[in-house]
Amino acid sequence: MNTVIVGTQWGDEGKGKIIDILSENVDYVVRYQGGNNAGHTVVAGSREYIFHLMPSGILHKGKICCIGNGVVVDPQVLLQEINNLRASKINIFGRLKISSLAHVILPYHRILDLLRETKRANKIGTTGRGIGPCYADKISRCGIRMIDLLNPKVLRDKLKDNLKEKNEVFKKVYGHPGFDFDKIYKEYLSYGRLFSSYITNTHLLLNKASKDKKDILFEGAQGTFLDIDFGTYPFVTSSSATSGGACIGTGVPPVKIDKVIGVAKAYTTRVGEGPFPTEFSRSFGCFIRDKGNEFGATTGRPRRCGWFDAVMLKEAVLLNGISELAIMKIDVLDGLKTIKICTAYKYKGKAFSEFPYDLEVLKGLKPVYKQMRGWPKTINNPKRYRDLHPCAREYLERLSGILKSKISMISVGSAREATIFK
Ligand code: GDP
Ligand code: IMO
Ligand code: MG
Repeated sequence: MNTVIVGTQWGDEGKGKIIDILSENVDYVVRYQGGNNAGHTVVAGSREYIFHLMPSGILHKGKICCIGNGVVVDPQVLLQEINNLRASKINIFGRLKISSLAHVILPYHRILDLLRETKRANKIGTTGRGIGPCYADKISRCGIRMIDLLNPKVLRDKLKDNLKEKNEVFKKVYGHPGFDFDKIYKEYLSYGRLFSSYITNTHLLLNKASKDKKDILFEGAQGTFLDIDFGTYPFVTSSSATSGGACIGTGVPPVKIDKVIGVAKAYTTRVGEGPFPTEFSRSFGCFIRDKGNEFGATTGRPRRCGWFDAVMLKEAVLLNGISELAIMKIDVLDGLKTIKICTAYKYKGKAFSEFPYDLEVLKGLKPVYKQMRGWPKTINNPKRYRDLHPCAREYLERLSGILKSKISMISVGSAREATIFK
């Protein structure tokens, strides 16, 4: 069975936790897009791990973890993650595979990301990790790939050519001194040596695995509304975060995908700038942010919080082909008197039941809410669906009904055990 796990909102839905849990029963886990803008949290026992590039199944012995061709890799960050795992005595030898076709983040991508943000009138609020500029180079056909780090001549020629143009832009447009060829060349060749045993044709490996009836989990990063096409453009990331990205970003064809599971928070959060129809007022937003510990796993920035937006989720179900949902962090809503679900939008007297992509409409619309009864704090560690308060179940059933999707997992805490399978 080949299953895609996809974020349905603006990222940070709890994908890491779900991937970790489902990894136990698969053979391969593969990240298909994004880079170290992602922060996927896995809580195992008393330890919390935050993975940026490393697939979230890495804690499970024997599972093959791939970084697909659709991912952009910052070698410095990857090295740090490998070292952290080694320090935690987690053996990754023979288990980590990096696509030779994945693009590489270079120092000029990181700096350009930051400089562009300072120049923009409408800031995106990027993570500053160089993601956008690296994908831009990939599409402009001047990117450097993992395989290039293994070939000194190819790397030299590509890097020389890139720096010639880039250094001029840095100097003339941004007043930045530019970058030294020798320093980058040496550093990146050394990454090539360090990673040579991990770099391979993961698209061949995964297709063989699929042919051999192995189970593969495709790990999405970010979320549907950060997708470069279907997100709230331009306040998006630079990759295809929707389930279609799983094929492009791994080389496993669409006919081989069996199932798509969508991960959604029981409410909504967003880090960075951009429209957010159901965003809470400031004080209630702070209250939920503290209750849900809503601070970015990558940058530590406070996340903006709001009610569950079923208009968005319906769109996400459609775009990703979701047949099952995992609803996360329902515990954070414990103790609220009333809970709201956004079922439509209104703009200048006109009702919208579909997600509007016009930025002006998105910024000016008013959500239409269905109000539900809240519930007191659930009993400690609910294990079964029936342990949940009747009003919590009513809320979940309402969501399932509106979205016409089965809710197969409900998360009531960050630990692995705090998960109800339905
Ligand atoms: P991801 O990027 O989608 O993997 O999500 P993040 O790791 O960025 O953010 C999710 C956060 O919520 C992490 O800190 C998780 O440990 C935490 N978390 C996941 N599920 C639950 C849950 O059901 N309840 C609570 N309270 N926290 C959760
Ligand atoms: P995970 O995988 C939440 C947001 C940034 C910014 C926008 C563009 O942990 O869910 P970028 O650096 O990608 O150019 O920034 O996208 N963003 C995320 N928000 N979770 C993420 O990843 C994100 N990755 C990027 O905050 O608004
Ligand atoms: Mg995250």
